[in-house]
Amino acid sequence: MSNYVELFHRLDALLVKNRHFWQFMPFAERGFVWHQNLPFCQWLMALDDNQLQLLGDDIHALTAALMPWIEDAEVLTQLATEIQPLARTKTFIPQGFDSGIPGRKWQQIIAFNEVLPALGLPWLEWCAGKGYLGRVLAISHQQPVTSLEWQQQLCIDGEQAAKQLQLNINFVHADAFSADSDEAIVTNQHAVALHACGDLHVSLLERVVAKKVAAVSISPCCYHLIRQSHYQPMSAVAKTSTLVLSKHDLRLPLQETVTAGNRVKQLRFVEVSFRLGFDLLQRELSQTDIYLSVPNVQKALLTQGFKAFCQWAAARRGVQLPENIDFDEWQRQGEKRFRITERMELVRQLFRRPLEIWLALDRACFLEEQGYDVMIGSFCDKPITPRNLLIHAERRDRMHL
Ligand SMILES: C[S@@+](CC[C@H](N)C(=O)[O-])C[C@H]1O[C@@H](n2cnc3c(N)ncnc32)[C@H](O)[C@@H]1O
Repeated sequence: MSNYVELFHRLDALLVKNRHFWQFMPFAERGFVWHQNLPFCQWLMALDDNQLQLLGDDIHALTAALMPWIEDAEVLTQLATEIQPLARTKTFIPQGFDSGIPGRKWQQIIAFNEVLPALGLPWLEWCAGKGYLGRVLAISHQQPVTSLEWQQQLCIDGEQAAKQLQLNINFVHADAFSADSDEAIVTNQHAVALHACGDLHVSLLERVVAKKVAAVSISPCCYHLIRQSHYQPMSAVAKTSTLVLSKHDLRLPLQETVTAGNRVKQLRFVEVSFRLGFDLLQRELSQTDIYLSVPNVQKALLTQGFKAFCQWAAARRGVQLPENIDFDEWQRQGEKRFRITERMELVRQLFRRPLEIWLALDRACFLEEQGYDVMIGSFCDKPITPRNLLIHAERRDRMHL
């Protein structure tokens, strides 16, 4: 059994066993889903906003705080640390290559490039955008690059920049899902995808395997952007898991706690508590216990108060509001529910990285099953991008091609 299969099994067992702590939609619940565990709920409610922020920002503090309540908290966090930073090889990039590239994106690209082994192969850059990564690959490896991108303007801009820098980059304007894009994938190639969303990188991996491409390196993101209603495991090992992941579950790996300023926090509190209060009211009126979503709201409406918000939301969703509603009481209940929802989201944070690694391991195991040697690691620190996992795979029979 490969190390990754073993790690997958260990994580899978813990995610399944603890699914009541993370696999639900906090905003759709009336109250704590763990209401039978009253001391746990009381402890969560006693956390003030400051503590909430501190725990949300520090997985080790969160793990320690949750250990009395979740017996697997420590082992989950420890398993996630088995995925280690990848070794970087410092590469010189001439001045001017970063022109027009936002600072953090540039740092991601440099880091991504520096962890890739030099295999002396032509490159395929999948879902390339303007081909920022392709430029760095072209100059540091002196190999031709094919950059495939769907938005024509990005191809035009990318082509122009490559020409100015005198780089051997060929842009292919194509839909990554189309049969046309298949032509860009060839066996003697190193395919890369930096932050290609959900099915876009899944489809690359499937085609890479089908064409026995020599090497592939991806940093996945937006796992929830899939065409099916639920996650479709790729590897034989993940197909045996009992986890069924909805799009909401697949968003968890992307849900970092945001460090926002007081004004933004206050605005969020008003909007979300209004929505949760209105939802409680509509459940009461319709005598159902089903969450009713409300469309995006103009922020100006929020300044008119909860009653105005409910009237607007009721009109949008066809809810009849009787005369005698105690809006202050429903607003108060919405605010209480907001505090509960935030605390349930905090607990789910413990499972964020383990679930992301579970998803990365599914891809890694799939590649191993299909004849590749695989390595997973982080290619940069979290502040540069929280989507910092990289999966690198090389065909075992590459030497004999
Ligand atoms: C998150 S961006 C990443 C861009 C680039 N790799 C980077 O990291 O800067 C995803 C890119 O995928 C492109 N894209 C989206 N759907 C696509 C499709 N069906 N075929 C090809 N490219 C697509 C988008 O236009 C966008 O440029």
